[in-house]
Amino acid sequence: MVKKLLAKKPLRLLLEEMEGENRLRRVLGPVALTSLGIGCIIGTGIFVMTGISAHNLAGPALSVSFVVAGIACIFAALCYAEFASMVPVAGSAFTYAYATLGELAAWIIGWDLVLEYTVASCAVAHGWSQYFQEFLRTIGHFLHVDLSFPAKFSATPFNLLEKTGHYGWTGSYLDLPTIIIAAIITMVLVKGIRESAGFNAGMVILKVGIVIFVIICGAFYIDPRNWHPFAPYGWTGISFFGKTVAGMTAKDGAPLGMFAGAAIMFFAYIGFDSVSTHAEEARNPQRDVPIGIIASLLICTVLYIAVTVVLTGMVSYDKIDLEAPVSNAFAQIGLPWAQLLVATGAIVGITSVLLVLMLSQPRVLLAMARDGLVPESFFGAVHERFRTPWKSTILTGCVVATIAAFVPLRILAELVNIGTLLAFVIVCLAVLIMRRTHPDANRPFRCPWVPVIPILGVLMCALLMFSLPSENWIRLFVWLAIGLFIYAFYGRRHSIMRRHPHDGKKQAVEDREVAR
Ligand code: ALA
Repeated sequence: MVKKLLAKKPLRLLLEEMEGENRLRRVLGPVALTSLGIGCIIGTGIFVMTGISAHNLAGPALSVSFVVAGIACIFAALCYAEFASMVPVAGSAFTYAYATLGELAAWIIGWDLVLEYTVASCAVAHGWSQYFQEFLRTIGHFLHVDLSFPAKFSATPFNLLEKTGHYGWTGSYLDLPTIIIAAIITMVLVKGIRESAGFNAGMVILKVGIVIFVIICGAFYIDPRNWHPFAPYGWTGISFFGKTVAGMTAKDGAPLGMFAGAAIMFFAYIGFDSVSTHAEEARNPQRDVPIGIIASLLICTVLYIAVTVVLTGMVSYDKIDLEAPVSNAFAQIGLPWAQLLVATGAIVGITSVLLVLMLSQPRVLLAMARDGLVPESFFGAVHERFRTPWKSTILTGCVVATIAAFVPLRILAELVNIGTLLAFVIVCLAVLIMRRTHPDANRPFRCPWVPVIPILGVLMCALLMFSLPSENWIRLFVWLAIGLFIYAFYGRRHSIMRRHPHDGKKQAVEDREVAR
C-alpha cells in the first residue's frame, strides 16, 4: 500500500510521453515566456494589496517586506527552474513531484496548485473590480457625472468593514465586475494560446510602462518625513498556530510587522511559477523556461521595491487608500490625470494576471488527467481546432466567477499564499531528493549551491507561512482533506501509473484501443 502511494513516475516515461499525440502547440520563445511570467506577477498584489499591508501591517517597512518575500521566491524559483529544465512538460510542480516524491505527494501538490491558480484568480478578479470601479468614478469626476457602479452589485456580501475592523455585511449582493471579467478571459482562453500570448505581451508592455511611470513621476513627490517611523508595527510579526512568537499582534490576534507584511505581499510574486506550466508550449523548454522564470521574477522584484519606496514616500502610510492605493496616491498629491492613467494601467495589468492564472489552471488539470488522477475525458480534452484544454478552461471560468463574486479579497489572498508556500516547500525538497536519486539525469539548468539554496528556500517559505494569521492553517488543512478524499475515491483507483507501472500511458492507450 505504502509502496503504491510512493509510486514514482519514471523520468524516462515523462520524456517519452512528451513525444505523443494530443500535445499543445510549441509556439513560445524566451521573451514570450518572460512576458507570460511578468504578465502573471504584476497585478492585484502591488496595485491593491500594498494599501492594506502598508496601512495595517508594516508601514513604510513594506519595501523591506518585498525584499524578504522576493528572496524566498528566488530560492524557490531556482529550484523550479532546475525541474522545469529536467521535466519540460505541462503541469509544473505536479509533474516534478510525481517523478520524485511519488503519487500521493504529486496529488497533494496538484491539488495545492488548484488552490493557487483558481483561488488566486478569484482574488485577482477582485483587484480588477476595485480598479474598474475606481476608473469609472474618476472618469465620472472628469465628466461631472456619477458613473459609480450600482452599490448592490459592487462588492461581496460580507467583507472586512473599515469602520469596525471586523468582518460584517456590506449591503451588496455580489461583486458583478468579477463575473464580467472572468467570462471575458474565459472566452479569450478557449480560442487559443497564440492569441493569448500576443494579447498578454501587449498588456505587459503597457503595465510595466505604468509601473515605471509611478516610480519616476512619484519620486518627484516624495516627502522623506513620510518614512518616519519606518517600521511602526516592528520588524517581525511571527506566530505559531495563533500564538505570537515575535512582534506585535492585531486586535483579532493576527501578527503585525515587517514579516507579516512579507507573508501577505508574497501574493504579489505569485505567478512566476506559471511559466513552468507552459513548458510544453515552449520552443526550447530546457533553456527558455528557466530564463522565463528567473528573468520575470528579478524584473518584478526590482519594480516592487521601487514602487513601495515611492508610494510610502508620497503618502503617509496611515493615509494610504485601501482599495486603489497606487492611483489614489496621485489624487492625494493633486494629479488627477495621473490617477486616471495609473488606474487604467492597473486594470490592464490585473487583466493580464488573470489571463495567465486562468491559462495555467487547466494545464495543471490536463497533466493530472493524463495520469488518470482526474477524469481524462473532461480535463484531458483538447479542442480539435483551437488545440486548447477547452472544457476545463470553461469550468475554471465558472468556478472563478462564482467564488470571486461572494468571497472577499483578503480571505482569498491569505489562502492562496499558504497553499503556494507549501507548494514551494515541496519543490525545494524535491530538488534535494532528485539530486540524490537521479544524480546523473540531464539538468540543462542546475540550481546553484545545492543543498544550501533549497534548504534556505524551505526555511524562508516556512517562516512566511508562520507569519500568516493562524486560521489559514485550518483552511489549508480542510482543503487538503477534501483533496485526499477525492484522491482516495477517484485518483487512486484510476491512476494510470498504478495500473501500468512500467509503461504508464502508452500501455493504457493500447488497452483502450484493444477494448474498442
Ligand atoms: N502576483 C499576482 C498579483 O499580484 C497574483 O496579482
